[in-house]
Amino acid sequence: MSEVTNSPKLQKAIEFIEENELSFRQQLIEFLKIPSVSSDSTRLEAMKEAANWTQSWLDEAGLKTEILPTEGHPVVYGEREGKAGAKTILIYGHYDVQPAVMADGWYQQPFEPTIKNDVVVARGATDDKGQALALLCGLKAAIHAHLANDVNVKVIIEGEEEIGSPNLVPFIREHRDRLSADVVVISDSSQLGPDMPAITYGLRGLQCLEVVLKGPKQDLHSGSYGGAVVNPANVLTRIINACQGPFGKIAIPHFYDKVKELSDEERREINDLPFEDSEFQKEVGAPAISGEEGYSTLERKWTRPTFDVNGLVSGHTGEGVKTVLPSEARAKFSMRLVPDQDPEEIRQLTEEFILSILPEGVTAEFIPEHGARPVVTSRETEEFAASLRAIEKGFGKKPVLIREGGSIPVVNTFKEELGIDSLLIGLGLPDDGAHGPNEKFSLIDFKRGMITFSALLEELSQE
Ligand code: BES
Ligand code: ZN
Repeated sequence: MSEVTNSPKLQKAIEFIEENELSFRQQLIEFLKIPSVSSDSTRLEAMKEAANWTQSWLDEAGLKTEILPTEGHPVVYGEREGKAGAKTILIYGHYDVQPAVMADGWYQQPFEPTIKNDVVVARGATDDKGQALALLCGLKAAIHAHLANDVNVKVIIEGEEEIGSPNLVPFIREHRDRLSADVVVISDSSQLGPDMPAITYGLRGLQCLEVVLKGPKQDLHSGSYGGAVVNPANVLTRIINACQGPFGKIAIPHFYDKVKELSDEERREINDLPFEDSEFQKEVGAPAISGEEGYSTLERKWTRPTFDVNGLVSGHTGEGVKTVLPSEARAKFSMRLVPDQDPEEIRQLTEEFILSILPEGVTAEFIPEHGARPVVTSRETEEFAASLRAIEKGFGKKPVLIREGGSIPVVNTFKEELGIDSLLIGLGLPDDGAHGPNEKFSLIDFKRGMITFSALLEELSQE
């Protein structure tokens, strides 16, 4: 159990959180009802509604707000000044969500949130509306308890994270002065497990790529033409196979050139974390788990690169048989990257390799998609230490230090463009089902997240 005691001001913030718990839950439900799917061009109204909702919430909490346009979905901005010379904390979150339809296996409508046993189920519950709102409610409580007077707070809640934040780099450059801060706080990841609060110091990068192979000008009868004409679907399977080497290694030449091996110490730390392969297997519900030889599951998930097929389309996939040579075959790949791999370089290596093994008879076209650089943040800063103490106050337990396999493109942008480190305080759980059906978020962790953020503001105002 925690040995830390709370100051009277933090106690007041906690009381405020407890008094308002029901209304905060209600606000989360309202937010989750807005189907703000950034990738869906039919949801433009909902995107605007989610941005407006967020702005009104921040207005009501006493921040000076603005909706700032981008080439795509707008960014909601808010700020509140503390005393002169105070530290500036920038909260980042996203109001956009991934698509969700009943056919994906939802037990309820994805945009009609339900609460059962202190768990809310809806698209965006954990990724990221629930987690982002937890920080904002923590801020509101801190304002009420006069905890936030000794810090400056800035907030950006964007609407394009789930599509790779394509307009955020120019946005951050354009608003460089306005966004200056000492530290960024982001809740858009997970704890290690239930009651295992964590701070995340590393995220994998990402490069997505679609490959389109074209063969004959139209689908052909596989009896009349099969064997004499190259089948793009057959070629696609050979390409995929060639990219994957034996023992879970990626066989694209030079793919590993820039991959940093972990230090013995970090390896030991990761493998000492309370994590069981058997529990992990249960969580994913697969008949077995496996991966790159010579690495543990956590090392594979957090610190090793991957090559994955996310989707494949070609030929006849409907009922019954249709004996055709498809004229086209498409695959969408995602490659997770680790320090010091560069997404653009990896894209080039992949395209070059595919072209080098492409047989005559098909052409290849590449459609580059999202990219994000991998990040490992410093664990030595005052702010990092403050966040460990704040999490302990919020969760009543010391956090563990973890890395994660997912990507948040802006973390690198904040570092590169503004020189600011991010504190990644994940409030979700690994089995929350982000991007999948029946996404959920624990309302107990929602509240713990609020307390953590109030505590963090207090910690950072004392520095
Ligand atoms: N919340 C996730 C990032 C995340 C996932 C962090 C898992 C830690 C663990 C974020 O919303 C997300 O889904 N990011 C995308 C990035 C992409 C669309 C550029 C991802 O990781 O696929
Ligand atoms: Zn996401």
